[in-house]
Amino acid sequence: MSLRLGDTAPNFKAKTTAGEIDLYEYLGNSWGILFSHPADYTPVCTTELGKTALLNDEFRKRNVKVLAVSVDPLDKHHGWINDINETQNCNVNFPIIADEDKHVASLYGMIHPNASETFTVRSLFVIGPDKKIKLTLTYPASTGRNFHEVLRVIDSLQLTSNHSVSTPADWKPGEDVIIANTIKTEDAKKRFPKGVREVKPYMRYTPQPTLD
Ligand code: BEZ
Repeated sequence: MSLRLGDTAPNFKAKTTAGEIDLYEYLGNSWGILFSHPADYTPVCTTELGKTALLNDEFRKRNVKVLAVSVDPLDKHHGWINDINETQNCNVNFPIIADEDKHVASLYGMIHPNASETFTVRSLFVIGPDKKIKLTLTYPASTGRNFHEVLRVIDSLQLTSNHSVSTPADWKPGEDVIIANTIKTEDAKKRFPKGVREVKPYMRYTPQPTLD
């Protein structure tokens, strides 16, 4: 059965470009992103890994550790990293798992046999510090993912895990957020001193609580 939101992310040990990694030890108390790539030396994957490397400071700022998966062997990964760095003007500074026996791919349901028997699809999991799955994304091999969107979701997840709010459609950091329906408007006014804007009794906005 596929992994669903709130499930515990299965732990594993794997060979990677940075040596053997135990997922839980690698993540420690950080957030994590585990994402699969259909194959080495393919153009869309090359741009995805390059984009992730270029955004790595943004992931670090949010205390997120990145871990990529491809079912190709380590020597191929090392050669491919040179190409990624050269063509995408980046420095791939996160590990890539060499998942030749497809152990990680199977554990996380990254192979969708009706799409391809051999390649993984573009799966992405955000894992919280509690090791629970917070986000799953599945894209076909032909469509590269939007890593700014991944950062945006992480901003929302981190905000909403600490405050009784949720984020509306297309929300970007800095914009107003929605107050949880479990909080009465009277209480919300005390809890959110920056203000409560009531559009409907079930739809109340407040400025993002974490802004100065
Ligand atoms: C790519 O990364 O370009 C790719 C990989 C597998 C199938 C199709 C495209």
